[in-house]
Amino acid sequence: MPRKPVAVLISVRGSNLQALIDAARRADYPAEIVRVIANVPGAGGLARATQAGIATETIDHRKFANRPAFEAALDASIRASGAELVCLAGFMRLLTAGFVDAWRDRLINIHPSLLPKFPGLDTHKRALEAGETHAGCSVHFVRTEMDSGPLLVQAAVPVLPGDDEDRLAARVLQAEHRAYPLALSLVAAGRVRVAGEQALIDGQPGPVRLD
Ligand code: GAR
Repeated sequence: MPRKPVAVLISVRGSNLQALIDAARRADYPAEIVRVIANVPGAGGLARATQAGIATETIDHRKFANRPAFEAALDASIRASGAELVCLAGFMRLLTAGFVDAWRDRLINIHPSLLPKFPGLDTHKRALEAGETHAGCSVHFVRTEMDSGPLLVQAAVPVLPGDDEDRLAARVLQAEHRAYPLALSLVAAGRVRVAGEQALIDGQPGPVRLD
């Protein structure tokens, strides 16, 4: 089966990008990363992509007059790459309806909480403050409302005594590195369909849970 071409959008260090790169090295992985785009010059993930022989581009949002202009440049770069799916991997810009709707059910995000709990920032701090017994991550199709959309994969980890934000974040990040490659493989292999804003994976209501 031909591999689905994917563009990955990043802003920062790119450890989730690395997990996707590593997964896609396997001959039987159904997706191939064809371009990595950063909105922040020098984002750590760019070096990871170059190291793996993947084309990179920096599209600095500060150089555009407004969000639609920035997103038009993003869209043009993604389309020029031939990508058919887009993965947000630590991409820290909100995307407007124009972009999100154009890539509906082909645009995937990872978020460091068990959505619908704790959308937005400071997820681990808020999970600790709320006294949660479990934290985790969610991979989902993107909708215009921040950190919402049909859930593909969730991975939970325990909150342990003595956890602080950094320790919990590190534990969740390990789970992210398992969840994202799985979610992308499911979408790329054509095993996901969206019905009534729920992801159906091989016909079963999502998300797939990795615990
Ligand atoms: C990850 O924890 C990801 O879930 C989070 O940013 C980090 C990026 O790390 N994304 C968000 O908070 C998006 N709302 P990485 O650059 O090492 O993959």
